[in-house]
Formats: sequence, structure tokens, C-alpha cells
Amino acid sequence: MKKINVAIDGPAAAGKSTVAKRVAEKCSFIYIDTGAMYRALTYKALEQKIDLEDGPKLVDLLLQTKIELEPADKGGKVLVNGEDVTKEIRENDVTNHVSIVSKHSGVRKLLVERQQQLSRQGGVVMDGRDIGTHVLPNAEVKVFMVASVEERAKRRFEENLQKGIQTDLEKLKEEISLRDKLDSEREVAPLQKAIDAVEIDTTSLSIDEVIAKIIELIEERS
Ligand code: CDP
Ligand code: CDP
Repeated sequence: MKKINVAIDGPAAAGKSTVAKRVAEKCSFIYIDTGAMYRALTYKALEQKIDLEDGPKLVDLLLQTKIELEPADKGGKVLVNGEDVTKEIRENDVTNHVSIVSKHSGVRKLLVERQQQLSRQGGVVMDGRDIGTHVLPNAEVKVFMVASVEERAKRRFEENLQKGIQTDLEKLKEEISLRDKLDSEREVAPLQKAIDAVEIDTTSLSIDEVIAKIIELIEERS
């Protein structure tokens, strides 16, 4: 398959990373989880008790922080200065603060540069919030994935249950809605559907159905 770039954006728990990973595998493309980069920086900032409203301090921290995303077939770990933080960056504390860290223009500029470098050769499936609009404006395939907030909260609830964690569905819904609001209303590169993106509502679709739709788009455009 021709090495094109695929941009997948959408709100939390729409199914982006699950689907992006599988699409990349099927096409022998590289999956890049940009959310993991913002999460890794947030993890470090919380650890060092940095004021999350202080953009320049966060940029300083980012400049001293090596974030590595292992390829999925090598384990898919996220390393920060060599430390495996794959699990830690998914914890509540990081999830509930990441939208504050990601609103700063300096932070975004540096991470977007790294993301663009990773996709220079093509053959990348990248998911996030601003991929189709800012990171890969020329991506051959752009998908904007949505689902109702009820369904998205239910998905996270079930994921937590599988990990043995009991969560409050209403609270999850509130947290997801707040993060959507912060991500959509920020000044720099807000979560937005690119004009040339194809919207897929995954509320009542299976993972395989969503994958099939995206593969169809890739085949059409490669
Ligand atoms: O997996 P989930 O949808 O919960 O979130 P994620 O993709 O890991 O992204 C975590 C957060 O990072 C988002 O809520 C955004 O605040 C930020 N983010 C961003 O601003 N731009 C991106 N390209 C990716 C993530
Ligand atoms: O990356 P994003 O936050 O958009 O979503 P995710 O981390 O891939 O989580 C979506 C969750 O919903 C996973 O547990 C999937 O198994 C499930 N799911 C899905 O991704 N797509 C569907 N069509 C149905 C369920």
C-alpha cells in the first residue's frame, strides 16, 4: 500500500487510538499517539509540581524531557527520559490535568514539530485533536471520529472495570465533557473537524466497522 498519511481526530474515547492502532497494523503504517506526548509532559509537570498555568516553565521542562513512543510492534511503551510511564500517563491525575498543559502555544509548537518530523516519510496513522487541522494539513486521509458523551463514558467505565477499577459513570461523563470543552474552546489549535475530514459517528458502530470504513478511505486515496 502507498505510504500515505492518515489523520484521526476527535474527542476523548471516540475510539481513535484503538482504531488507529489496528488500521496502522493492517496497512503496515506507523501509529503515532500524540495524546501520549501531552500526557507524558503533564506527568512530568505534576511530578515536579510545576504550575500548569505557566507556559514558559512547561516549555523549559519539555526542552529537558525526552519523550519516546516505542513502535506498537516493539511493545508500544511510552518512555520519559528512559522511564517507562505507559501506565502512569493514563491515570486520573494526568487525564484531569492534560487539557491545561496542552492549551499553551509554546508547548504545542514544540510537540507539533516533533510530530511532523515523525511523519515526514509518510505511512503514518496519527491520532489527536489537531492532526487534520494543524499537524498534517496535507494528510491524504482525514477522519473526525465522534460518539455521544454517554457512549464514550460507558466505554471508559467498561475499560476501568476490566482493570478492576469501579468508577462513577456520571463523574466520568462530567470529566469527559469538561475535557472536550477545554480542548474545543482553547485559543491555540482547538479540537475541530478539518473541512476536508470525513466524520464517522462511532456511537453504534463496532470497532471492526470503523476500521473497515477507514481502510476504504485509504484504499480510495492511495
Ligand atoms: O485518549 P484520550 O482521548 O482520552 O486522550 P488523548 O488522545 O490521550 O489526549 C489527551 C489530551 O491531550 C487531550 O484531551 C488534549 O488536551 C491533548 N491533546 C491535544 O491537545 N492535541 C493532540 N494532538 C492530542 C492530545
Ligand atoms: O483514543 P480515544 O480516546 O478516542 O478512544 P480509545 O482509547 O480508543 O477508547 C475507546 C474505547 O471504546 C475502547 O475501550 C474500545 O474498545 C471501545 N470502542 C471503540 O473504540 N470503538 C467502537 N466503535 C466501540 C467501542
